[in-house]
Amino acid sequence: MTDAHQHEARGAHGAHGERVARGAHEAEARWSAVDGYLTDLLAPEDEALTRALEASDAAGLPRIAVAPNQGKLLQLLARAMGARTVLEIGTLGGYSTIWLARALPEGGRLISLEYDERHAEVARANLARAGLDAIAEVRTGPALETLPKLAAEPGAGPFDLFFIDADKVNNPRYVSWALELSRPGSVIVVDNVVRGGAITDADAQDPSVRGTREMFELVAREPRLDGTAFQTVGTKGWDGLLVARVVE
Ligand SMILES: C[S@@+](CC[C@H](N)C(=O)[O-])C[C@H]1O[C@@H](n2cnc3c(N)ncnc32)[C@H](O)[C@@H]1O
Repeated sequence: MTDAHQHEARGAHGAHGERVARGAHEAEARWSAVDGYLTDLLAPEDEALTRALEASDAAGLPRIAVAPNQGKLLQLLARAMGARTVLEIGTLGGYSTIWLARALPEGGRLISLEYDERHAEVARANLARAGLDAIAEVRTGPALETLPKLAAEPGAGPFDLFFIDADKVNNPRYVSWALELSRPGSVIVVDNVVRGGAITDADAQDPSVRGTREMFELVAREPRLDGTAFQTVGTKGWDGLLVARVVE
């Protein structure tokens, strides 16, 4: 159940509350069934992706990777724009990293930033098993520390595509860094931007919601960015993605 549904169910009483909770469960079961149908047809996982999730589970990582059809969307986006360089913020076990790295041509490069050394180790092993360790590199540390170091490296960037999927409170800072490391035509994707509908709450105290709202305001007023966002439902509940392009 999403946070919004739990909140709604808690706020309701008695039989009405139970009906709300049941309705939410039924909706989520249908979203998941549709995701299953679409994924089986259009975004089936191969062994490397399946094993990446199994290894993440075995290591006790949280189950918060993108869904297969979302991973495929990232891959298609990277391919459609002919991306050669990708910067990901938030690696976890490298599941989205595998989808993205597979889109890159010979000589392409993906850098993924991860705070947690244990997550990074699982991701590195998953990338090696997928045969992507030459193309995809995981760097550990808080992204707000690894980003300036990356930017100071000779030849760092510009990156063609950014996937931002880490601590949501820092979403505005990550979008600013992406802009810094971009070129005209680069694309920035930010995950989990709807948060079970909580994003419309201007008085939200949740730092993830506040950070994401700040990020939307930044994208809206930044003349170098042209963006949109949309809601999604599925195995990952009710959420959404922001996609923005760095204008010429
Ligand atoms: C939602 S998960 C990433 C999922 C991954 N993109 C996928 O779809 O397979 C978020 C990850 O961001 C990492 N993270 C959280 N705060 C961070 C920070 N300050 N800097 C870098 N990574 C961070 C977490 O440790 C976690 O592994």
